[in-house]
Amino acid sequence: MNSIRLVNDDLRPPEPPRRHLISIADLTRDDVERLLGTARTFESTLDRQVKKLPTLKGHLVVNLFYESSTRTSSSFELAAKRLSADTMNIKSSGSSVDKGESLKDTALTLGAYDPDVIVIRHPEIGAPQLVARVTEAHIVNAGDGKNQHPTQALLDLYTIQQDLGRLDGLHVAIVGDVLHSRVARSLVQAFDLVGIRCTLVGPPALLPREMPAETTTDIGVIRDADVVYVLRMQQERMQAGANYVPSLREYTARWGVTPERLRPGQKVMHPGPMNRGVEIDPLVADSADALIETQVRSGLVVRMAVLYDVLTGGPVGVQALAAAEVA
Ligand code: NCD
Repeated sequence: MNSIRLVNDDLRPPEPPRRHLISIADLTRDDVERLLGTARTFESTLDRQVKKLPTLKGHLVVNLFYESSTRTSSSFELAAKRLSADTMNIKSSGSSVDKGESLKDTALTLGAYDPDVIVIRHPEIGAPQLVARVTEAHIVNAGDGKNQHPTQALLDLYTIQQDLGRLDGLHVAIVGDVLHSRVARSLVQAFDLVGIRCTLVGPPALLPREMPAETTTDIGVIRDADVVYVLRMQQERMQAGANYVPSLREYTARWGVTPERLRPGQKVMHPGPMNRGVEIDPLVADSADALIETQVRSGLVVRMAVLYDVLTGGPVGVQALAAAEVA
């Protein structure tokens, strides 16, 4: 008997690998197109009177945040709720992390509840991979150190596509503290996948050398871009005592994004949180050409698409939506 079972086990097709979203580098152009398409389908359900879809009913999504967050944590929570998943939000302050519990032990503890998805934000690079190793959950990286923030890059692509009608052939200038930015690292890879040209602009000490994009310290070049993408100075990731810019005042004078430095009608984006009057002039932030609120709205539908995609492994089909109609 035993040997027969063994033979049967051997013949059983291997379990498909668990799907995670840890880095944009894991995605193909087809993956990106599928995710953006799913997000569009979800967007079309949002103006219904009843906004909840039954799609992920019975699934558990844990949001494990070791860093402050407003937009990312709230949109993941709402995305899971809109898809009828159960949600659990764990923040490092107020949890056992305060008492010195390691990430591995926290992950093992949460893993005991059999979560289907763990969304993790952590200051250390590689934290999502660790959680993937010690739990059975699908892992979504909501930002690891200065390394990756893949759902931000996807929601930015979605925003650009919705507003400008295309991706391929556009030119985006990313301005500011690129060195400490996981958003920029994910965006540069995502832009490359979809055929967007990218220029990185900022003070010499804040422009990394390893990214595959053009770099310049000349703020004048932002006029040539279709979209100007502004980043804040990420002081919390800067080395203590290092002088990246002479002063914030000087930074604003040389690299601040002001109306004078933009062409009329040029689109402006920012992942938030914004420091008005430092990297972005309030007039720019509040102008009709700023897509900053659209980015937040895109964050909801793109994160719905990501949760759906890691759990089901495919584009949202007519069936899922038909089920939504009868619920
Ligand atoms: C970004 C982040 O946390 O990396 N913000 C965000 O996710 N909305 C960018 C930043 O902190 O500057």
